[in-house]
Amino acid sequence: MAEQTLMDKLVSLAKRRGFVFQSSEVYGGLGSVWDYGPLGVELKRNIKDRWWRSMVHARDDIEGIDAAILMHPRVWEASGHVSGFTDPLVDCRQCKVRFRADDPRLKGPPGDPATACPNCGNRGTLTEPRMFNLMFKTFMGPVEEQAAIVYLRPETAQGIYVNYLNVQTASRQKIPFGIAQIGKAFRNEITPGNFIFRTREFEQMEMQFFVKPGTDEEWFEQWREIRMQWHVDLGLQPERLRWHAHGPGELAHYAKAAYDIEYEFPFGWQEIEGVHNRTDFDLSRHQEYSGKKLEYFDAATSERYIPYVVETSAGADRVTLTVMADAYREEEVEGETRVVLGFNPAVAPIKAAVLPLTRKDGLPEVADRLYHDIRRRWSAFYDDSGAIGRRYRRQDEVGTPWCITVDHDTLTGETVTIRERDAMSQVRVAISQVPAWIADRLEEAGR
Ligand code: GAP
Repeated sequence: MAEQTLMDKLVSLAKRRGFVFQSSEVYGGLGSVWDYGPLGVELKRNIKDRWWRSMVHARDDIEGIDAAILMHPRVWEASGHVSGFTDPLVDCRQCKVRFRADDPRLKGPPGDPATACPNCGNRGTLTEPRMFNLMFKTFMGPVEEQAAIVYLRPETAQGIYVNYLNVQTASRQKIPFGIAQIGKAFRNEITPGNFIFRTREFEQMEMQFFVKPGTDEEWFEQWREIRMQWHVDLGLQPERLRWHAHGPGELAHYAKAAYDIEYEFPFGWQEIEGVHNRTDFDLSRHQEYSGKKLEYFDAATSERYIPYVVETSAGADRVTLTVMADAYREEEVEGETRVVLGFNPAVAPIKAAVLPLTRKDGLPEVADRLYHDIRRRWSAFYDDSGAIGRRYRRQDEVGTPWCITVDHDTLTGETVTIRERDAMSQVRVAISQVPAWIADRLEEAGR
């Protein structure tokens, strides 16, 4: 399959089957903002829940938090985002379109009279590069003035830093410990694109791990290992995952060391998660800007210090796209192409579809009872329309791991057929055992 076509097919399937829609589509869409449909919201939620379980519920040294999107504007001065979260941009005075200064479509220096605008083609209309801040601004309260400016957070991490002593005191954690958060972040990206890969509104799954200075490098390595394993356990093909170490020119203003987990998308290797050693940069800056002591007191050694922070930061939308791209495959089956989203059952939006073979002879009543029985615990789908083969294909395309067929033998033998998505193999299971059968398979998939 040509690689670009795979993205086109994914985008089209996502829309047709209700995973992802363009935001405000009836108005022509809003650039690089997307809405999740009924199946997309389930998929993304399953990914977020899995992250939360592994980071918060499965560990006794990490606490959860849900901080507000709007924060005191000084937060972003302290964090360095007001001065440093910028990209150099070039404007066309003629057509008013804005480009990144490193846009490969720019042929020649932007301020030069001979350089043409990549959009309107006019020469000499481009400005010199100017720094442009990626944070969205809005106003708090009734007056739209400089003093009322607040920002939509460009990362969730700062809500954790300013709360770290609150959480530590309330939960009586001792260093080393972490705080995890899932939430929206906003960036006025200038070259967004590739579907939900780079968007202006997105969700992050971030964890800040507070450690004693000097132990940070050891924790950094531990967290690198844990996070890579999480993606492998999600079911991603390991050969499509790799590390990218940030060189000195690439490091964010807060980082002493940074590694990206990259995935090989149809459009190339790209970051899906960052693991960063942020040192005491953020906490020291908040201490300085707020005037409040943010030191940790170690009762065992009577030491006071500002902890170092190891951060793990993944994009929920980006991981969702990764899971979809990784799962997509086409197969020839009996002379026809079957499209499959081979999701790990643990994240599949629909766990089981219940299909009565016909709409008569009492089969729908039995199927409906089973469907509601399954629905009490998992997302399920009921489908009684069309040939059984077509119904299987419809479920394959949205990644449903198990199709359960109620047929005439069900009426006499109290059994159903469960057809497995990948191998297309079928087993006969007692109808009363179906929920336990699904629970066992999900337990295996949970890893
Ligand atoms: N707190 C650190 C931080 O925000 P980052 O490398 O800028 O670091 C972390 O972002 C993750 O957030 C990325 O690996 C990516 O998964 C996700 N992310 C960042 N910008 C994004 C965007 N515009 N659209 C979608 N996801 C984005």
